Amino acid sequence: MANIFPKWTKMIPTVLAGGSFAFLVLIVATVWYYMTPSYTRVGYQPTQPVAFSHQVHVGKLGMDCRYCHTHVEQSRHANIPSTATCMSCHTVVDELGGYLQQAVSRDGSSPSAHWRSEDLQIVRNAYADDKPIPWRRVHKVPDYAHFNHAVHVNAGVSCYSCHKRIDQMPVVFHAESMGMGWCLDCHRAPEKHLVEQEYITDLAAVEEMLADRDHARTVGARIAERLRMAPSQNCAACHY
Ligand code: HEC
Ligand code: HEC
Ligand code: HEC
Ligand code: HEC
Ligand code: HEC
Repeated sequence: MANIFPKWTKMIPTVLAGGSFAFLVLIVATVWYYMTPSYTRVGYQPTQPVAFSHQVHVGKLGMDCRYCHTHVEQSRHANIPSTATCMSCHTVVDELGGYLQQAVSRDGSSPSAHWRSEDLQIVRNAYADDKPIPWRRVHKVPDYAHFNHAVHVNAGVSCYSCHKRIDQMPVVFHAESMGMGWCLDCHRAPEKHLVEQEYITDLAAVEEMLADRDHARTVGARIAERLRMAPSQNCAACHY
């Protein structure tokens, strides 16, 4: 019988089989990756261009989150502060020495250590060149889902419920999965997480309050009732 098809066509079934196997592997890998966000994200901790420490600035110096994340109560996104915000202190600190010198001498280290700090030099240079510091993003919901900080913060949900003890982190890491199941868990029973507005950024106090077994039944339930709270479980609330 004459060859109707050129010889190479014999390869097609093999190539297809190989190809579809690779395709299958790709699908499994994709589903695996995307369906198990808690395993891939919790603990995610990119190395930042400047060794900025929340533990030092919040935990030790006692700064409020809103000093830097100024829009967190008004807008969808919590902004990352500009270098001007950093320099509002570090200029004073550098030029006058006072605040920093005190903070440093408490440690017993020499103030000049801060002058030699390469990290602060990056901040000073960025400020002088009017360039932002290229911070690396830690948390990000996918584009097809919508999250809004102001709604949560004003409803009595503390940063603690979603970001845990940032004030103890020398380098920020992803503390919660932030997958859909995680959002819905709280939307179904928000009382467990609600605190009075004045404690929103007081992570240590909130951790203690929420650890109380009666919290949801007492304080939480009272706040939920006062605000007539009913977090949505409708797909369209988050996907639009
Ligand atoms: C002195 C300024 C300052 C203060 C105060 C501050 N932050 Fe930050 N925060 C930053 C900077 C700068 C970054 C970006 C670098 C990084 O991720 O460490 C950041 C990053 C973050 C991130 C990660 C953002 C991302 O990429 O996903 C979270 C969450 C956060 N801060 C929460 C808080 C909370 C909660 C508080 C209060 C307990 C707080 N911050 C106080 C400056 C500040
Ligand atoms: C309220 C004033 C204040 C603000 C605002 C502030 N800092 Fe600081 N920062 C300090 C003080 C004080 C220290 C020294 C703390 C210590 O050593 O105990 C410090 C220490 C540091 C250090 C460690 C320096 C070293 O020893 O290597 C870095 C890096 C730093 N800050 C970066 C930043 C960045 C980046 C921002 C802006 C996002 C910022 N700071 C905003 C007051 C401030
Ligand atoms: C109900 C959960 C929740 C609460 C409460 C919450 N966050 Fe977030 N935060 C998130 C999620 C989810 C993201 C990722 C948002 C995105 O990708 O749009 C995020 C991202 C951030 C970022 C990165 C910038 C951004 O907006 O994407 C910063 C900074 C931050 N949070 C700070 C704070 C601070 C400060 C507080 C408390 C005043 C707080 N967050 C309270 C869930 C929360
Ligand atoms: C720790 C609790 C908690 C977590 C976690 C949480 N939420 Fe919420 N969410 C609330 C509360 C409380 C409200 C306010 C509901 C109200 O005022 O009726 C709310 C409101 C909202 C709203 C406004 C619509 C509405 O229901 O009123 C959206 C949208 C929303 N959340 C999306 C998200 C997304 C997306 C995530 C996950 C990335 C998330 N939330 C995680 C507690 C939470
Ligand atoms: C409270 C907010 C919220 C509500 C309500 C919600 N989703 Fe989601 N959904 C999310 C977030 C956030 C993600 C992204 C999860 C991630 O990053 O892994 C997501 C992811 C998804 C995905 C991608 C696959 C996955 O599981 O990650 C699908 C599909 C989806 N949602 C469908 C729905 C449908 C259908 C409904 C209504 C029954 C719904 N969602 C209601 C917040 C929500």
